[in-house]
Amino acid sequence: MDRTRRLRTSESLRKMLRENHVRTDELICPIFVIEGENICNPIESMPGINQYSVDRLHEIMNQIVEAGIVSVLLFGIPAHKDEVGSAAYDEEGVVPQAIRYIKSHYPEIVVIADVCLCEYTSHGHCGLVKDGIILNDETLPLLSKAAVAYAKAGADIIAPSDMMDRRVEVIREALDNAGFLYVSIMAYSAKFASGFYGPFRDAAHSAPGFGDRKTYQMDPANGKEAMNEVEEDILEGADFIIAKPAMAYMDIIKEIDNNFRVPIVAYNVSGEYSMVKAAAANGWIDEKKIVMEIMTGLKRAGAKMIITYHALDVARWIEEKR
Ligand code: PBG
Repeated sequence: MDRTRRLRTSESLRKMLRENHVRTDELICPIFVIEGENICNPIESMPGINQYSVDRLHEIMNQIVEAGIVSVLLFGIPAHKDEVGSAAYDEEGVVPQAIRYIKSHYPEIVVIADVCLCEYTSHGHCGLVKDGIILNDETLPLLSKAAVAYAKAGADIIAPSDMMDRRVEVIREALDNAGFLYVSIMAYSAKFASGFYGPFRDAAHSAPGFGDRKTYQMDPANGKEAMNEVEEDILEGADFIIAKPAMAYMDIIKEIDNNFRVPIVAYNVSGEYSMVKAAAANGWIDEKKIVMEIMTGLKRAGAKMIITYHALDVARWIEEKR
């Protein structure tokens, strides 16, 4: 093997030897659904991404279906927030309405509903707050209530992103008790306290009003701890595992892949998206080349699926190539 370049001599040969592929079927497109009517708000820090009210959801859903994408991840932005995040578990809230709309008009789409309180609480934390402390066990029933409300509306998959301990266990139990044995759980297990979520917090109006999320999200320096979180969530009943953010954490994806057999989902988060968009807008990078390289890298690291704001572009680029 002194001449490894022999295997790179033509595009056809390179195609034959390609180890990893990005497939449209494996893309998950995040959508921000906002309460109200006739809204399509561009998010300034995420060029190309909008918040949609339910009555205009068809604008993005038609593009998704057209592009061949089969799955969406929903985030809700309520009209009113309160201390206990009531709008998160209101059966008539914006996310249940969006789920019902999508399920009735696009029944083949796999609907994933993010479960968390931060978009719904006035303090912007992912759990209940008392004396400046983010409460764990007191938050769990509210997360379960949200999960059941979304399942009732027709969600296929529940994705808890709050990082409270034992939430997968209580959500599984609540879903089972409500008869939703086949609604699965995609747990944000390896979720780090990251600066890369900045643009999302603009998009979802969910920045914490005080302090930070470091008492519940993981320290970016820790890899072994992530494996503990993953193991725990699998034991509690997680069907899929999310690693998030993606790019600065590819070793985590690889490590999960080496140690566990559940499908791994890489979340290519808002800050990763916006960095690429900003550099591309300045003409400093080739957006398509860079995005496809990132997607391929995530597959190579071991991701089965990828949640990405680039989903529509990626799907179109894959189609173009065929
Ligand atoms: C809610 C949640 C966040 C993201 C997904 N779910 C924000 C956060 O934890 O602060 C971030 C996604 C992104 O940056 O694209 N807990």
